[in-house]
Amino acid sequence: MSQEKLLSKVVDLASAYYGRRDAAPVFPRITPDQLRRAFGAGSPMPEQGQDAEEVIAGLAETAQLGLVAQTGPRYFGFVIGGSLPVATAADWLTSVWDQNAGLYASSPASSVVEEVAASWLLELLGLPRTASVGFVTGCGTANFTGLAAARHYVLRQAGWDVELDGLNGAPPINIILGQEAHVTVHTALRMVGLGTRSIKSVPTDAQGRMVAAELLKTLRSCKGPTIVVAQAGNVNTGAFDPLQEIGSAAREAGAWLHVDGAFGLWAAVSDQLKHLTSGAELADSWATDGHKWLNVPYDCGIIMCAHPEAHRAAMTVTAAYLVQSDKERDPFEWTPEFSRRGRGFTVYAALKHLGRSGVRDLIERSCARARQMADLLRREPGVEILNDVVLNQVLVRFNNSDDFTRGVIERVQQDGTCWLGGTTWHKVAAMRVSVSNWSTTERDIELSAQAILRAARAPVTVP
Ligand SMILES: Cc1ncc(COP(=O)(O)O)c(C=O)c1O
Repeated sequence: MSQEKLLSKVVDLASAYYGRRDAAPVFPRITPDQLRRAFGAGSPMPEQGQDAEEVIAGLAETAQLGLVAQTGPRYFGFVIGGSLPVATAADWLTSVWDQNAGLYASSPASSVVEEVAASWLLELLGLPRTASVGFVTGCGTANFTGLAAARHYVLRQAGWDVELDGLNGAPPINIILGQEAHVTVHTALRMVGLGTRSIKSVPTDAQGRMVAAELLKTLRSCKGPTIVVAQAGNVNTGAFDPLQEIGSAAREAGAWLHVDGAFGLWAAVSDQLKHLTSGAELADSWATDGHKWLNVPYDCGIIMCAHPEAHRAAMTVTAAYLVQSDKERDPFEWTPEFSRRGRGFTVYAALKHLGRSGVRDLIERSCARARQMADLLRREPGVEILNDVVLNQVLVRFNNSDDFTRGVIERVQQDGTCWLGGTTWHKVAAMRVSVSNWSTTERDIELSAQAILRAARAPVTVP
């Protein structure tokens, strides 16, 4: 079968998938062992290959058994955005082109599209237009990249070259985080060799926001190189650290401020919401995701840095065989990855398709749907909304009981109308609802709220 025929077969398979997706339960009803058997686990690696069309048809049929309708309108788990059709289409082309986006010399188009997408992103998010931008796998890696740039910068200020001399014997770095910092900030600290034991942890309030007065106290107690990590959008509540106060205090103290804004940074595009990100522009680096709220396919994270020289110094290397350009963008100089996918194409396509007004609409609509969900649920006796719904996240508790709340989550998951997960918020169990998908309608929220309330009203069998 020709390459073209095979790809047109894939178009049919994709249409069939979309056709079934919203009718099927959002989470598949299959056990891990059934899935293993379906994929042929335990069978030896085949000696002889199989026809490509058969492989693809078989893969689609088998994978289908265990796929979650994450691109669908009623998936509210974690913070998972669906994929805009234009972004999926651009992603398909990215695969067809299969560019190694590391160097301008390996793919001029990948390099220049990143340049354009980067400049649009900075404009959209209200960040300095001179900031450097890297396209990475996700916000976790963006946090890592930002902290590597921070480590370079604060140690350079102290007369230490960390890229050459490593951390042995280096001046100690103060690391200040809010108690609610995302776990990937901890992973990033491990990876940059700073560890997590010496974190100076700043208390947070009932919504998970860093208490600015406590941060000031902590900053005053620090001498020498200092990195502060603040958060735009708590993974549970959607709350924002007080960025204006944190930004001013960090500047005054000469500390590097990194903002983890995996989804929250996108609030900057909306007049209704941008007060939440006010002060973000004072930071030195910002991490966010394309694959969450911009609704481009996995994987796509973005690191932006107000000090391009520090960002580049932390990431770049050189070798005789590399054709590095002194005029054009070599994308690998801004990311930990060397060879990589042309992620700029999907971001460019999404931004060009939506325009500023479309991105604003996507963000504002998601927040309106989150408020709608909270309003539909809070009318029911025994239902409590634990957070101020300032963004797209809703935390729900039932009958003031951990067991009952976990039971409701399980029954909703089994029902299949929608999917959402649980969390523990300030020591109590809660249901998490994250509305991050362009296609979620008011009707989807109504249907999902009905399913949640059915699960909450269902008689509970006592064993
Ligand atoms: C605040 C925050 N930071 C970082 C991350 C990690 O992002 P990713 O999963 O894209 O690496 C998340 C994921 O939900 C998040 O909410």
